[in-house]
Amino acid sequence: MKKRVLVIGGAGYLGSVLTGRLLSENYDVRILDSFIYGKRSVQKFSADTRVEVIEGDIRNIETVTDNMQDIHSVILLAAVVGDPASKARPEQTIETNYLASMLVASSAKIAGIKKFLYASTCSVYGVGKEILDENALMNPVSLYARTKVASEEGIISIADSNFRPVIMRMSTLYGYSPRMRFDLVVNTMTMTAFTEGKITVFGGNQWRPLLGLEDASDAYVKALESEPGGNGTAGYGRIYNVGSEEQNYTITEVAKLTAKGIKEASGKEIPVNIEGDSVDVRDYRVSFKKIQGELNFSVKQTIPDAAKEIWGKLDSKEIRDPKQKVYYNHYFDASEELIG
Ligand SMILES: NC(=O)c1ccc[n+]([C@@H]2O[C@H](COP(=O)([O-])OP(=O)(O)OC[C@H]3O[C@@H](n4cnc5c(N)ncnc54)[C@H](O)[C@@H]3O)[C@@H](O)[C@H]2O)c1
Repeated sequence: MKKRVLVIGGAGYLGSVLTGRLLSENYDVRILDSFIYGKRSVQKFSADTRVEVIEGDIRNIETVTDNMQDIHSVILLAAVVGDPASKARPEQTIETNYLASMLVASSAKIAGIKKFLYASTCSVYGVGKEILDENALMNPVSLYARTKVASEEGIISIADSNFRPVIMRMSTLYGYSPRMRFDLVVNTMTMTAFTEGKITVFGGNQWRPLLGLEDASDAYVKALESEPGGNGTAGYGRIYNVGSEEQNYTITEVAKLTAKGIKEASGKEIPVNIEGDSVDVRDYRVSFKKIQGELNFSVKQTIPDAAKEIWGKLDSKEIRDPKQKVYYNHYFDASEELIG
């Protein structure tokens, strides 16, 4: 029998790309999502008998328990994502990112599901001078990051020999997705280069690890297929920083690489203007030796290639209006009208 993976948040920026990858690896997929940003990203799966698409909110106990039936593995992506979005909707953030996440993990454990992958973030490190590995002190500087820390700790605390969660602390993602986000650094820079003819960087010396969407999907497949080992510090659960050391960049470097991709795509020289200070205090460099060593994970995507692809989508008008609220998690919530 083929293995069915429950992808919670499967209509999202990462989820809609990861679902395609899981199908190509011969998994069946059940997507559970409340479709805050609409259903368009999963339309392409509607004729595919290997995909079930279920509309539901993980803050509802019955929705969660019902959807654990006939499931081999769970990937929990659903959340209110990003510092600005969690600031705009604090109650929904605590309910979804912590309380409902614990509900999902406990239900998966009780249903006997052994593989449980949880989407966390390198934002849990907040600010740090050293190159931070998985044992580094966490220093969350936003509600978003605090809910991720609390969920990580809660999920690891219920791990045992039958339930071995894997925590995926992802770098900041980039690239084109059917559920596009223009509130992520590379995507934002490409969009402002297109709409304003320049890239403006505030501060610019802050470090940030970056990761392409296809590479992130690859990390999830590798984690799904890995042996359920444990490690000393985290008992039966495992924690991975997900990314690559070569893509620890400063924001100024990110801007230059984005401009390079746009030059290749369009021939246009996009100026990078550095102004004032950043309002975002996050500044961290991360070690990815563990995922490289244990899961044999390495990256293939680059920022210039992603910028080129996104530029193409804007230039061809496949994305007609990148300023629509739906592309920005902090501007958009379920009460907004969906366009297109
Ligand atoms: N995008 C990044 O750079 C990044 C980096 C590190 C970690 N992450 C983590 O990866 C995961 C996916 O992020 P993304 O960029 O795809 O975000 P996204 O906002 O595009 O997707 C989140 C999805 O979850 C769904 N959702 C939200 N609340 C829900 C609820 N209560 N019930 C059911 N569904 C709900 C939304 O409808 C959406 O489809 C998140 O957990 C995020 O914290 C993302």
